[in-house]
Amino acid sequence: MPTPRLLVLFGSQTGTAQDVSERLGREARRRRLGCLVQALDSYPVVNLINEPLVIFVCATTGQGDPPDNMKNFWRFIFRKNLPSTSLCQMDFAVLGLGDSSYAKPDAAIDPWLHDLWKKVLDLHPVPLDLGIIPTGIPLPSKFTLQFLEEAPVTHSEEQHVARMDPQDPPSELHPFLAPMVSNQRVTGPLHFQDVRLIEFDITGSGLSFTAGDVVLIQPKNIAPHVQQFCQLLGLDPDQCFTLQPREPGVPCPVQLPQPCSVRRLVSQYLDITSVPRRSFFELLACLSPHKLEREKLLEFSSAQGQEELCEYCSRPRRTVLEVLCDFPHTAGAIPPDYLLDLVPLIRPRAFSIASSLLAHPSRLQILVAVVQYQTRLKEPRRGLCSSWLASLDPGQGPVRVPLWVRPGSLTFPETPDTPVIMVGPGTGVAPFRATVQERVAQGQTRNFLFFGCRQRDQDFYWEPEWKELEKRGCLTLVTAFSREQEQKVYVQHRLRELGPLVWELLDHQGAYFYLAGNAKYMPVDVSEALMSIFQEEGGLSSPDAAAYLARLQRTLRFQTETWA
Ligand code: 2AM
Repeated sequence: MPTPRLLVLFGSQTGTAQDVSERLGREARRRRLGCLVQALDSYPVVNLINEPLVIFVCATTGQGDPPDNMKNFWRFIFRKNLPSTSLCQMDFAVLGLGDSSYAKPDAAIDPWLHDLWKKVLDLHPVPLDLGIIPTGIPLPSKFTLQFLEEAPVTHSEEQHVARMDPQDPPSELHPFLAPMVSNQRVTGPLHFQDVRLIEFDITGSGLSFTAGDVVLIQPKNIAPHVQQFCQLLGLDPDQCFTLQPREPGVPCPVQLPQPCSVRRLVSQYLDITSVPRRSFFELLACLSPHKLEREKLLEFSSAQGQEELCEYCSRPRRTVLEVLCDFPHTAGAIPPDYLLDLVPLIRPRAFSIASSLLAHPSRLQILVAVVQYQTRLKEPRRGLCSSWLASLDPGQGPVRVPLWVRPGSLTFPETPDTPVIMVGPGTGVAPFRATVQERVAQGQTRNFLFFGCRQRDQDFYWEPEWKELEKRGCLTLVTAFSREQEQKVYVQHRLRELGPLVWELLDHQGAYFYLAGNAKYMPVDVSEALMSIFQEEGGLSSPDAAAYLARLQRTLRFQTETWA
């Protein structure tokens, strides 16, 4: 009897669920099971009826939302006409993970995996003559890289992403290379953070969007990092290769051009500044020819070594590149075939679109906080996409950025009289700028915006625009400057002060309420402020206030878009 295939489907936002899935895949191969590991939305869901054995590994993101790469699947399984009986044939397991703010899921996952393998092996025993491939011996790589003798005429990025059919809107496979028009710091010199207002020209792109939509940007590694990586691994950046999957049915990374240069692979595809996970150390240990380095790597991949690994890697946010520098003998011996097993692919990053086509035709603007922070390591940690964007200077020559758009989770009422209350502290105000522009252009003037920042003269984005709209009677702006007085003043304090108005708008005028921004404490604080308004102004009991908020949420009159 041929061994059945194990299918591992993941929904992953920051990569943890994907990493666990890939570990599962490798463990399956060690047990001689065929295995396919895929993001839920990349897998043709109707094929599930033919799968004997499926493991779902799913994380959550934001306020308990499904990750982006399982959103379609999530919608699918809630369809009323789902043929549920046909799915009952398969054996399946589900592993649910929190988001990456839960530092050490391994402690809980390892025992679960142990039990899982016991069950799987009961159902599908390993052929006795073959046995389990021991850890420590590398499994074959997923792909083989064939280096070309001579560099072929490679396509430029422009040629590679050119769409087959210009009617198709830009997508991950065929992004639009948008000329950057401007890149301007909008925070004052005294503000701790560099925040950029970036504008792209999207003329002729076929891109279209409305308020609440999101733009995805595919960032690149900076040249010095690419060079350092190639040097460590002894790779010639100018060499070209073609890529083949070793097993049939394993898809090659969709966006990768063939043939491809090493430089392009490293700069555009390999996320060498991501923080490596346990599976990286497992594979590296297998590939290491150096006794001392190998011992350390084995320790980092063992269950007992997880605390130490967290201390070495996750806590200080050490990058793939920095780890490879610490293990130079191993880095120099990595066979290029294993590059795609070892280093995750660079993911596109999502930004709320901050402009409306009705106010800025053929333009797309975003507000980007440049992520930079210190850990115990000397070098500051930098966000890949925001630092890359900030480094681009259209004043020095043409700059093009690969991007495409997707519908956001915020939707707005179309009736002109329905009031809209928007709460967007900091860069959370970005989607609401698009909303206000769009609504004003459509003659919807009942816009209430609560904006919070530290200081009026440092991080009050678009102040003149808001003032102008207020003058025209199209906007009511309420501000909370947190650092202009002794006591912190936040948007939720302003909401409470204006409780009677908020209640009147929500309860009597059918207002829609929106919240965007940092996911840490603000969403909970704002929800609590709302519930206390419901109690004080509406005379509701505490459970009734919670039920009232839940009802608003169900009817899409309370919507949030939050990010980490
Ligand atoms: P702070 O940095 O002075 O604490 C945009 O980041 C604004 O949101 C800042 O004024 C910031 O204040 C404020 N902010 C921080 N935590 C918040 C919270 N839990 N709720 C609402 N606003 C908050």
